[in-house]
Amino acid sequence: MSHHVLFNLDGQEVDVEVDENESLLSVLRERLGVTSVKDGCAPQGQCGCCTVLVDGEARVSCVTPVDRIIGRAVTTVEGLEPVWRDACAASFVATGGSQCGFCTPGIIVRCASAVAKGRVDRASMERALAAHVCRCTGWQSVLDALESPVALDPSRDLSLAAERAALEGGVPQQVDASVPLGGAKFADDMAPRDAVVAVPRSAGVEVSAELAEGIAWVIADTLRDARTAAGKVQGRRTTLDDSPPLPSLVAPINGVALATSWVDSGYLEPDASWCEPGGEPATARGNGGGFGGKADSLAPPAARILADRLQRSVRVVMSREDVVRFSAKRAPISATARFDGKLVTIRGTCASGGESRLSKAAEIASPYGVGIDAVWDTATLPVFRVSSALRAFGLAETAVLVEGALTAAGADRLSLIQDARSASVLLDSCVLGFEGAIAGARVKINAQTGKLEKVEVKVAAGDPLDDVVMRSYAAGAAHMALGWVLTEGLAVDPETGEPLDLTIRSLGVIRAKDIPEIEVSIVDEAGPPLGRSSDAVFAAVAAAAWDALLLVDGSRPATFPARETRTARILRR
Ligand code: FES
Ligand code: FES
Repeated sequence: MSHHVLFNLDGQEVDVEVDENESLLSVLRERLGVTSVKDGCAPQGQCGCCTVLVDGEARVSCVTPVDRIIGRAVTTVEGLEPVWRDACAASFVATGGSQCGFCTPGIIVRCASAVAKGRVDRASMERALAAHVCRCTGWQSVLDALESPVALDPSRDLSLAAERAALEGGVPQQVDASVPLGGAKFADDMAPRDAVVAVPRSAGVEVSAELAEGIAWVIADTLRDARTAAGKVQGRRTTLDDSPPLPSLVAPINGVALATSWVDSGYLEPDASWCEPGGEPATARGNGGGFGGKADSLAPPAARILADRLQRSVRVVMSREDVVRFSAKRAPISATARFDGKLVTIRGTCASGGESRLSKAAEIASPYGVGIDAVWDTATLPVFRVSSALRAFGLAETAVLVEGALTAAGADRLSLIQDARSASVLLDSCVLGFEGAIAGARVKINAQTGKLEKVEVKVAAGDPLDDVVMRSYAAGAAHMALGWVLTEGLAVDPETGEPLDLTIRSLGVIRAKDIPEIEVSIVDEAGPPLGRSSDAVFAAVAAAAWDALLLVDGSRPATFPARETRTARILRR
């Protein structure tokens, strides 16, 4: 039953009509239009994007019933003390601690509470970040921004920063102090609130729906009504394992074998779009491409179809559970590789849809001057969609196999490297990217404890344009690569292809407290800026991490994620 609640929002008394059991997040976004408070996983309460202060204490608003805040003071990023807040936002721009910016307002709000209590040291900030997920940055630049305000260099040209971000993300990106405060143009923040709302129907729910892009969409006047009618998909975390779906192969003598699991992109902004009849749908890639995961998002085409069919403005909104169920996944592989002194021979199978990208990766000239002979079979696996557009797909799979084969054959990388450019980035790996950027990496693991200690990255991508952004993307790619090797996997029903882990935390993204120091060196080069340097970094770090596990454990894990290693166990504690 609807009723009125009164509370103080950012210093103003508000009186708003709400439904029974409505969350504070729903009231803020849907009824009061406060879009700096983001919905990354509601109602899971796991990502921290919806964090606000209630009487000065940080709370995730998606699991806070609005009835509990009657008569209390709610503070969003807009209501924080402006001098501190704006310095904090500038600090995020100065360190590169905010890329897409979806996670950042919640982080800033929580840290405002910590600062008010005098907890300003790095350890306190790390603890505060335990309640948050950031997929873009690799955390270090977030901690740098929070530990002590870093002034923004007035001579820095943020248009060049945005240009580098676009080259890395593959879509136009905004880089300025409004982004950390939630001001990037995300589709669902810009959607007209009088549009009807379309959400995916849950399996087994008997309610009328409109089919578009292979999904049954339940339409209602409000997001809350649509979600109620569509039925709840439980954001469960299964105890099933995320073993690779393709059978493991036996490593050839002096060679390697690897099988990888399903992986979700894990981008924080759930897919959304809106469209007017006869119009162009809003892009789902408002301030970032979801690392390629949104390249073929179903939200914009569905919004267009539904708007044209219903002759009304339609707002398409996916929940976290919907994103995991319907977004394209990284195609698993199972392959072997062997180096005979001249040629790396790769033989393997990949989930159907990944083969052309894998073949293309093998055609890139190796920085080691060795040939790559790769043959990929395909297997049709029962998962909704795979995408070869995901970050470094093909490049990273090929790189880990090539580097693994070189190590298994006892090859001396330095003697193989044939040009000065490759030598300038060579560490324990060296990978040339699809667009000409090149990166090398070293991953240090403590031999006694198995704990990740440090990641070193060297990267060259022509004119960097903006070192801060390029470093931030490199660190984020290193963080994601470590996750791919060690912790990230998705349990999928082998019969139906239905993902079984639907919570943001179950995806295995490495937490702030677990990420080691990531040192990124940019090799300055003349010439035009080259894109996707972070893809090369991802591939180089993954290859170096796989070799580092061999070094400390004495045997090479045959699967990603390498769950059974000491290093992975520490990360999952
Ligand atoms: S949306 Fe509330 S914690 Fe993720
Ligand atoms: S900047 Fe943190 S999720 Fe994008």
